[in-house]
Amino acid sequence: MTTLIINIKELVQVENVPKKMVCGTAMKVLPTIKNAFLLIENDCIKDFGEMENLPKIITDKTIEATGKIVLPTWCDSHTHIVFAGNREQEFIDRINGLSYEEIALKGGGILNSAIKLQQTSEADLYRQSAKRIEEVMKLGTGAVEIKSGYGLTKEAELKMLRVIKKLDEHYPITIKSTFLAAHALPTEFKNNKSGYLDEVINEILPVVAEEHLADFIDVFCETGYFSAEDTEKLLKAGTKYGLSPKIHVNQFTTIGGVQVGVKYGALSVDHLELMKDKDIEALKNSNTMPVALPSCSYFLSLPYTPARKIIDAGLPLALATDYNPGSTPSGNMNFVISTACIKMKMTPEEAINAATINGAYAMGLEKTHGSICKGKKANFMITKEIPSYGFIPYSFGNSHIDKVFIEGKEI
Ligand code: NIG
Ligand code: FE
Repeated sequence: MTTLIINIKELVQVENVPKKMVCGTAMKVLPTIKNAFLLIENDCIKDFGEMENLPKIITDKTIEATGKIVLPTWCDSHTHIVFAGNREQEFIDRINGLSYEEIALKGGGILNSAIKLQQTSEADLYRQSAKRIEEVMKLGTGAVEIKSGYGLTKEAELKMLRVIKKLDEHYPITIKSTFLAAHALPTEFKNNKSGYLDEVINEILPVVAEEHLADFIDVFCETGYFSAEDTEKLLKAGTKYGLSPKIHVNQFTTIGGVQVGVKYGALSVDHLELMKDKDIEALKNSNTMPVALPSCSYFLSLPYTPARKIIDAGLPLALATDYNPGSTPSGNMNFVISTACIKMKMTPEEAINAATINGAYAMGLEKTHGSICKGKKANFMITKEIPSYGFIPYSFGNSHIDKVFIEGKEI
C-alpha cells in the first residue's frame, strides 16, 4: 500500500541522515522543505522532497495538502496514562487552598490513585486507559512512554504493566513501558521504607523482568518520597535486569537525583522544575536527556523548568505531557509545546525539536521515530490550512490537526 501526499505547504523536521538528538543552539534549527511531497509505503516513509522533483509513480492513494503543514507525530516520553478514575475532588481542594503536598500528607495524592487502581479490574483499567490512548493519538501523538507506579502492591503493579503491554499490542502507536518501582510509600509500609524497597527489589522486579513487562525503571526521587540513596539502590537493581533508568527528579526539591541518574546512565531525567548549576554541570558530557513537563507546572502552579538555562548551556531538552490524574490530567502535546513557548521562552523550532526527535531519544526510539526520514515509521500529521508551523504554539488551545497517520494508517 502506497500513499502520496502532494503540494504540502511545508514538510517539517526532515532529515537525510538520522540524528540521535539535537542540543543547544542546534535546537533553534528545524529543517523543512517548502512545497513538498511525502511518499509512504506500508508503515514506513519511502521518499520525500520538493514537488518539482516528484518522481513519476503510481500510488494507491493520493492526498492533496495545499496550504497545509506536515510534521512528524509527537513523541511523548513521560506519561502515566494507565490509571483508574480521577482526582477531581483534589482539584477542588487545591482551588480551596490546600497544597498538593498537604493533600498527599492527608492520604490523598498517589495513595488515593493507588486505592482506586487496586480496586479496579484489569479489564476495566484497560478500557479506561484505551480511551486515553485513542484520545492522544487523535491529538497527534505517535509514540508514548507509560509508567506503572499507581499499583504499590505486586499484584496491582503487574496489573498496570500488563495493561500497558496489551495497549501496545492493540494500538498502532508505539508504547514503551516503565516500571515505576517507587512512587510513594504504601500505608502498610509507612514506617518501614527499607522493607518496601526490599519487597520491590526482591519480589516485584524479578517478575517484571522475567515477564518482559518493562523497558525502563523509574523512581520518584523527592523529599518525602524516595531519597537519592533509595534511588541509587533501585537503579542498581534495575540495571542488573537490563532496565535503563528514566527518573522523576527535582520536581519540588533538588536532592541529588540528577547526579544519581547520570551515574546510572539514565536515558532521561524528568521534571526539573528546579535546576541548580551543579545539576546542569552533571548533565554535560552525559547521554541523559533532560525532560520538561510544562503542563504539570501549569496545573500545579509550579515553577517551569528553566529551558533557557538548560539549552543555553549546550544541553538538549525534550518535552512531554506527564499525563496522570494528580498533577497533569492532560495528554495534549500541542498544549505542551504552546506552554513551552509561552512560559519557558522556547522558540517554536526548539519546542518542536523537543517534542519530536528529542522525545524519541528519551524513549530509545530515535532510529525509528521523531523525524521525517526515509525508512523511519510513517508517523506524521497533516494540519488544517495554517500560515506556518509556528502558528501551532502561537494559536494555543486550538486544534490545528486535520489528519494523523501512525505506521502509515490514518487514525
Ligand atoms: O509525575 N511526581 C510524581 N508523580 C506524578 C504525579 C503523581 C500524582 O499526583 O498522581 C508526576 O507528576
Ligand atoms: Fe510523572
